[in-house]
Amino acid sequence: MIGVKCLFVVIALYGVSADWWEHEVFYQIYPRSFADSDGDGVGDLIGIKQRLGHIKDAGINSTWISPIFKSPMVDFGYDISDFTQIYSEFGTVDDFKELSDEAARLGIRLIMDFVPNHTSDQHEWFQLSLNRTEGYEDFYVWVNGTLDSEGNLQPPNNWISNFGNGAWTYDEGRGQFYLHQFSPKQPDLNMRNPKVLQALKDVMKFWLDIGVSGFRVDAIPFFYEDIELRDEPRTYDPTATPNDYKYLNHIYTLNQPETYDLIYEWREFLDNYSRETDNVTRIMMTEAYADIQETVLYYGDGERKGAHLTFNFFLLTDLNINSTAYDFMFTINKWISYLPVQYVSNWVVGNHDNPRVGSRMGAERIDGINMLVMFLPGVGVTYYGEEIGMLDGYVSWEDTKDPIGLTAGPQKYQAVSRDIERTPFQWDDSKNAGFSKGNSTWLPVASNYKTLNLKAEKEASQSHYKIYQQLIELRKITTMKEGELIVKALNKNVLTALRYLPGHESYVYVFNIGANTELVDLSHYVEIQNQLEVVLTSVDASLPKGTQVSKQFNVGPYEAYILEVSPATTA
Ligand code: NOJ
Ligand code: MG
Repeated sequence: MIGVKCLFVVIALYGVSADWWEHEVFYQIYPRSFADSDGDGVGDLIGIKQRLGHIKDAGINSTWISPIFKSPMVDFGYDISDFTQIYSEFGTVDDFKELSDEAARLGIRLIMDFVPNHTSDQHEWFQLSLNRTEGYEDFYVWVNGTLDSEGNLQPPNNWISNFGNGAWTYDEGRGQFYLHQFSPKQPDLNMRNPKVLQALKDVMKFWLDIGVSGFRVDAIPFFYEDIELRDEPRTYDPTATPNDYKYLNHIYTLNQPETYDLIYEWREFLDNYSRETDNVTRIMMTEAYADIQETVLYYGDGERKGAHLTFNFFLLTDLNINSTAYDFMFTINKWISYLPVQYVSNWVVGNHDNPRVGSRMGAERIDGINMLVMFLPGVGVTYYGEEIGMLDGYVSWEDTKDPIGLTAGPQKYQAVSRDIERTPFQWDDSKNAGFSKGNSTWLPVASNYKTLNLKAEKEASQSHYKIYQQLIELRKITTMKEGELIVKALNKNVLTALRYLPGHESYVYVFNIGANTELVDLSHYVEIQNQLEVVLTSVDASLPKGTQVSKQFNVGPYEAYILEVSPATTA
């Protein structure tokens, strides 16, 4: 009993200190598009190194970097031909060490993208597997075809690749089909082969030894497929054509039970690595577009721990330009409801696979949404350019590079191509937006770069960037780290939220997502007992910073505010 009491006292005195990653903002760098140091029009590692100052100035200490490994770039680095080499246009392993040293000097952590589901067809393992070289025969998922009634060879089942078209490709030499859940140039590794699992652990160990702080793990749901290779049923989506991924309901190719076991095993591997070295946590952030129950299970099953973070994509997948404040509230609370309390939340509104948030949700809502991501508890994620409110660029069919866009063809590419969200970072108003000194860039720079760029936003008295910087500062306040969250939609246009910690200042978030002025009434929160002070606003808001307001005040179209309330005084 006494022991327990002592423990309480210790916790009360010192609080439960959070681990380094638990309140971080992770900044996603898409290396091809961040900074080009040598003028070939493609971003590179030295470019990132030279621009780390920006990340630091923004207030960020943690990044995750899309793949930089040797690759034929069919899927822009998600097709890896050597996991321990760097893609030559990005640099060398020594350049990476240079980048990593500079990052360490600035106190910035680097998280690598780990792509274990598949390799490039150019990877040595696949080449050896094609020839059935001993030890590599079963590195990939090889299956015999079947003969149809006319004697034609057919793939073993009806599975479709995520990029469209069948998921099986026949190899004449080997006389079998191999599985690819993405492009035919990205054969799936056979995760049921212990040698593959060992090889993948060796890859993680290689980068951990170089000093990375963890991994963003790609395409988790695709690790295992039904061992009986059963056909998948048709979806009810009438718009889907037989070669569309959405034509089938992927009950046999996504989120199979073994996937969870593997993630839990990798967590143990990372924890052991830390224990055996410096006791600093190496984190795992998993990428899974899955339903809420499947998503949170990647965090752990109650007994075993899994990913430190599984990206919360629901703000991205469940909301659109027509969403109401009720939809926002529902989506936020859906996450909070299903995530077991011991885990750390995270909030994502953009990445290299989805149109940019300002283009998806409306440019006038950029500040309100950045403020929301930073206001919610746990980890925030920023896709490069979100801090300055970059929008999708225009990419013509002739300039299209994304394999999804190319597979869709000239008529349909615009709806699906991911090139638009991957255009070069807009540093300033000089040639190529300051991204490259070259004559051309791998994707065109967005046409708005003369006015929308970091330099202009630094010079302006108010800008998305300046708000972003202040948000990062705000997150350091205890209430923002430890406070309770309450979300309330006051009507269909007004979204509000409260961060509340007894004895501390409270913070209120107010966002008018609509086009008309709204009278906001915060009396709906019993926790708010005092006047409020505006501490942060969207660009050009009608109530300036420092304004004192009562619980009722007007909020103009698309305006967003964060207000501070002093702790309640007891009489
Ligand atoms: C998810 C990545 O984010 C995406 O860019 C890639 O195409 C697929 N996984 C395949 O690796
Ligand atoms: Mg370059």
